[in-house]
Amino acid sequence: MQTVNWPFSPGRQIHIARAEGAYLITDDGRRILDAAGGAIVVNVGHGRQRVADKVMEATRDYSYVVPPWITPSRAAMSAVLCEHWLPANLQRIHCTSGGSEANESAIKMALQFHSARGDAGRTRILSRSLSYHGTTMKTTAVSGHQARKKGLTGALEGAPSVATPYPLRCPLGSHHPDTGEYYARLLEETILAEGAETIAAFLAEPITGSSGGAIVPPDDYWPRVREICDRYGILLILDEVMTGFGRTGTPFGYQHWPIEPDILVGGKGLAGGYAPLGGVFATENVGATLDSAGMSVMFHTFGGHPAACAAAAEVLMIMVEENLVERSADQGAKLHARLNETFRDHPHVAEVRGRGLLAAIEIVEDRSDLTCFSPDADLTNRVVAAALRKGVFFYGGGTGDVRDIVCMGPPFTIGETEIDLMCEVLLESVNEAI
Ligand SMILES: Cc1ncc(COP(=O)(O)O)c(C=O)c1O
Repeated sequence: MQTVNWPFSPGRQIHIARAEGAYLITDDGRRILDAAGGAIVVNVGHGRQRVADKVMEATRDYSYVVPPWITPSRAAMSAVLCEHWLPANLQRIHCTSGGSEANESAIKMALQFHSARGDAGRTRILSRSLSYHGTTMKTTAVSGHQARKKGLTGALEGAPSVATPYPLRCPLGSHHPDTGEYYARLLEETILAEGAETIAAFLAEPITGSSGGAIVPPDDYWPRVREICDRYGILLILDEVMTGFGRTGTPFGYQHWPIEPDILVGGKGLAGGYAPLGGVFATENVGATLDSAGMSVMFHTFGGHPAACAAAAEVLMIMVEENLVERSADQGAKLHARLNETFRDHPHVAEVRGRGLLAAIEIVEDRSDLTCFSPDADLTNRVVAAALRKGVFFYGGGTGDVRDIVCMGPPFTIGETEIDLMCEVLLESVNEAI
């Protein structure tokens, strides 16, 4: 096999020649089930000719146009977003080229919002202990992900943080009935201790992505959080880079609860992996407040690139036409049922969790007291490697401190054969690695 100077750090090289449906095909013809949809990105499946055609047209007809100007692809994407995806109150759209830039832009919007209202003391972003928001210095600083801060901590700004709900490991007891209230109260106490008047926004993932492994909070948590943010004048930014655009069986993850954010952040599934794209969707209140002070969020040169918007418009329409959000909910329910059946009595799987087609298992050394395997066991990586040898790609999760987590996020088009294959291979791989 040809050796290529890729990636940055030497490691095992996997050569993918093409992909179709839910499968990646290596250059020697092996088929790998893409049970993680790449980095939990691919929603409509690989190889959609109509998406490729639209990207080709955009590239041919207008290649690059500065982000604030309108192209047919930007108009098409904006129309489909407003008509089919975004709630009426979140239709101010700012596009970037990925999730990190989108979170960075959302943070800047929140800071500018308060500044525009003459409340310039609100300069801090409150985030959560177990989270991931991106690779820029600010999004790294506000992420609760120790492994991704290695070698950077001295240069990262300190950021106020509060515990992420973790029902399995709630200090009151595993899945204690007061878990939601417990974590909501911690939020309020943290805001008061840090000084509410210094906090611009609370930034969080509605369902924790790969850092925690598809952790779903109790049902009373998010309504209480919304109430607390409102009480203290703090904007709520929901990072739906992983959970957005149907991944959890609703258009956006927050829609499992009766709340709405002030700023919603998307990426990954927005263009289904066909092009790099992130999106920030703000309320009219946020947008109009920035306008009134002559403020705007600076664009990234490649933000909302015409070809990326063309891909997104088509991917979002495919999901509407093929009812893929409902399919994510239905196939997700089947996946969770099969995973639960497979691992219910497994001595080393503490729980199966997630919603829709975002799922994870947490592996422990001792299920009775939830002790983790030592980091030296490198268990997550060994499970993922074993599965890959058997032809299924899973996504390793966790933060180093929080481990060992294997995440799943397949295309919404998967069938029962693929669900069965995922569960069989995952069980064999966990057993083999342990
Ligand atoms: C919840 C969440 N936010 C932000 C990001 C960063 O997005 P990107 O890698 O596109 O910059 C990710 C990426 O995994 C994510 O899962």
